[in-house]
Amino acid sequence: MEVDTDKPNMARMYDYALGGKDNFAADRDAVNKLFAFSPENRYVPKANRRFLGRAVRHVASQGVRQFIDLGAGLPSQGNVHEVAQQSLPDAHVVYVDADPVVLTHATALLATDPSTAVIQADIREPEKILADGKLRELIDLSEPTCVLFVSVLHGISDADDPAGIVQAFADQLAPGSHLILSHLTSEGHPPELVKQKEEVFAKSPTPFSYRSRAEILRYFDGFTLVEPGLTPVTSWRDEETESAEMTAAGAWWLGGVARK
Ligand SMILES: C[S@@+](CC[C@H](N)C(=O)[O-])C[C@H]1O[C@@H](n2cnc3c(N)ncnc32)[C@H](O)[C@@H]1O
Repeated sequence: MEVDTDKPNMARMYDYALGGKDNFAADRDAVNKLFAFSPENRYVPKANRRFLGRAVRHVASQGVRQFIDLGAGLPSQGNVHEVAQQSLPDAHVVYVDADPVVLTHATALLATDPSTAVIQADIREPEKILADGKLRELIDLSEPTCVLFVSVLHGISDADDPAGIVQAFADQLAPGSHLILSHLTSEGHPPELVKQKEEVFAKSPTPFSYRSRAEILRYFDGFTLVEPGLTPVTSWRDEETESAEMTAAGAWWLGGVARK
């Protein structure tokens, strides 16, 4: 993947939408178009990010000490290692992202933390990622491990078999391992509106597929969903009453945590 600051880029758009500073005019323009298109879009990334924090806290509370964050994104608030290490100071976290800008920023952030590593790789190559020397130094696959596919699989086309990608990682995990997954969904939304949203992304370098509940559930094959199952991200073990805007934004995601 090349760094082209004239074209919007998924990691930097998401960073801008979360209030970050690691983005360029092209990213901000693309996100502002999405915000203008539908008011709750402003809250969509935040709803997902808050789910990520609650889900990691839950998995760490089960004693899982190893995390592989696939499509990790630019470092933001509440990164996986920060959340996990609050309950388990010796938790090991490997971040994986295809974007070279993510690699640079994450490497700088994590330079002094020997319990974390960053790998630049494509999640469509599970075997290569799991064989990576940096990952193997930190992750013992014979022990329970949590893999995260948070806000990344909707960027993987059906032709690239997202269910097969999750399965390839799942096959290598020990019993007691966990899967954390969130995905943009078409469920419960007017098809015309979903189509319009997909068309906005189709013009960017990162086309998205808003998938149905049944399609997203397939990614959990071989795992048992923990309570409350696959839900809008804002309803997943929520600790406070969300604003109406955040709840509306959360309805564009389904998220869940499952145990192998
Ligand atoms: C929307 S961000 C999500 C960040 C984080 N997981 C979260 O939910 O807060 C998606 C990230 O996935 C990365 N990504 C997209 N497709 C990928 C692929 N095929 N392999 C690796 N990373 C990918 C992008 O570069 C981007 O940083």
